[in-house]
Amino acid sequence: MLVIGNWKMHTTLDEAVRLASEVVRAIDAQTETVEVGVCPPFIWLEAVGERLRDSDVRLGAQTVHPEASGAFTGEISPVMLREVGCADVIVGHSERRRLFGETNAMIARRVAAARDHGLRPILCVGETLDERKAGDAESVVTNQLDGALESVALESSANLVVAYEPVWAIGTGETATPKQAQSMHAAIRHHLAGRYGEVGRGTPILYGGSVKPHNAADLFAEPDLDGGLIGGASLNVTDFAAIVKAAAETVSP
Ligand code: PGA
Repeated sequence: MLVIGNWKMHTTLDEAVRLASEVVRAIDAQTETVEVGVCPPFIWLEAVGERLRDSDVRLGAQTVHPEASGAFTGEISPVMLREVGCADVIVGHSERRRLFGETNAMIARRVAAARDHGLRPILCVGETLDERKAGDAESVVTNQLDGALESVALESSANLVVAYEPVWAIGTGETATPKQAQSMHAAIRHHLAGRYGEVGRGTPILYGGSVKPHNAADLFAEPDLDGGLIGGASLNVTDFAAIVKAAAETVSP
């Protein structure tokens, strides 16, 4: 099981450092069965990384530019993320797709760049409410997978994480039911197995979209849910720790 916090564009420097320390303190005992990570804003990566040192909590970024360096004003490269201690990077979050115009082709280059530089991409996919109502949810998600993974070879299940995040569930308080999530996760797993064989079948698939302490256990109990990508609830250490605990209890009740 994996639980990753996506802090988005939240926290001051003080809050970020404090939250990182609290997360280390609160979840360290559970990290034997659950892999835990946090993805702070770029500008706090170094300070947060400092707090995570000597802990098992992984450091991740929220996006990455595909080039290693160059004239790309305002962007952050995979080389820079590695240098500051990142292990993971979220790629293709629906907010990046919707608000910053990221296409599947752009996301594919980011996934490939992350892989080339030893970062583990957390590739986000998910349909909008209209797409779900039209009965297109599964085809939208498999198209996103194919687009983003087009040029990506996968040697090990440890080199990629997929996060299914239905757009209508992100930050809305509305969660996919465990059944809805399981059904899409099974489709994603089947698709990854078709593409990468056993390596694809073993790729962790997280659910994201209003995961909270009160619904985490029911979601994580589904067989194809390997954990969660947590937005709002990752900013509160009590909630985040409760979600990690729910994940741990599905491994050893
Ligand atoms: P949320 O965000 O938990 O606040 O819905 C999830 C995400 O965007 O990764």
